[in-house]
Order: sequence, then structure tokens, then C-alpha cells
Amino acid sequence: MSFTLWFTGLSGAGKSSISSRVYEEIVKCNLAVELLDGDIIRNNFAQDLTFSKEHRDINVKRVGFVSKLLNKHGVISIVAMISPYAEVREQNRQLIEDYIEVFVDCHLDVLKKRDPKGLYRKAEKGIIKNFTGISDPYELPVKPERVVHTDHESLEESVAIVMDYLKKNTYI
Ligand code: ADX
Repeated sequence: MSFTLWFTGLSGAGKSSISSRVYEEIVKCNLAVELLDGDIIRNNFAQDLTFSKEHRDINVKRVGFVSKLLNKHGVISIVAMISPYAEVREQNRQLIEDYIEVFVDCHLDVLKKRDPKGLYRKAEKGIIKNFTGISDPYELPVKPERVVHTDHESLEESVAIVMDYLKKNTYI
């Protein structure tokens, strides 16, 4: 059965790592699946967009629309995007028949310590503007299907939580 598995959470929380491991697991099941990662989308499909609220909403809606098309043709869509605004996430939930939201939660202090790309440091200095979690909002998911906590779970534990959900609900 096709579905959209949408990972939302702050930059550096682990959306890309978890989603790419889940992608590999689904490929192993011989199912048709595509991975739409925020960084790749922004470099290839959303070069015209900034990080304003208006543009983030367009970005999230665009990828929601593409996911619906993929699902229509039997392809599972896995999305990893900050998607900080609750209203457009909800619109995608309404649009997409089988929408599964995973909140990738991680304490901000941990993200600031990790900061592999130095983005949080730059955001705190004001070099990057409108940075989610520092100078831009992140609206917490209200009823995500699953929450993973990457500040105290291993990557494999988080992946297992997602895979268990998919199996229990006979998505795979
Ligand atoms: S979203 O808000 O539109 O969903 P998206 O997931 O595509 O965001 O892109 C987030 C990535 O862009 C981050 O992982 C980070 O590397 C980079 N980035 C650059 N500027 C910002 C910013 N102002 N806020 C958040 N992420 C940013």
C-alpha cells in the first residue's frame, strides 16, 4: 500500500539520517519508494524559495502535492523537511490519503552542541536570519503518528520505532 511518511523537526535533529535508513529498509522489501529530503529538494526543486514563512509553506505544499502524485502511482513517499508550520502540515494530512507524521524531537541544547554545519552558531550571531528554533518558530506537531527522541535514542532505535509503526499498521 502506498503512503507518505513525513518527518518533521528542527535542523540537525536527525530527519535525514532516519529517513534514509527507513528508505533502505523499504527498498529491501522490494517496494517502490522515493525519498524527498529537504536539502535535495531545496537544491533541485525549490531554488526559487527563501526561508520566509510564505516560502516555507509553498515548499511544504509542493512536496505534499508531489507525494500525493507518487502515492497515486503506487510509490511510497518519504519526506524529510523541517516543515515548521502546523497549518500546512495539516493541509497535507487532509490532501494525502495515507499520511503518517513522525516528529523527530531533539532538545535544542543538544542541537546547538552538535551543530555539524555550524548553522546554529551562525544563527545565534545573526549571520543566518530566520533560523528555525533560534530566530524563527517551530510549531510542535499536535498528534504525530510517532515521535522519536534523537537526544536519547540511537539511530537504529528511532528507525525501529518507525518501522514497527509501518508493520503494525500493515503499511509494509
Ligand atoms: S523548510 O522549513 O522549508 O521545511 P527545509 O527542510 O526545506 O526547510 O530546509 C532546511 C535546511 O536548510 C536546514 O537543514 C539547513 O541546512 C538549511 N537552512 C538554511 N537556512 C535556514 C533557515 N533560515 N532555517 C532553517 N534551515 C535553514
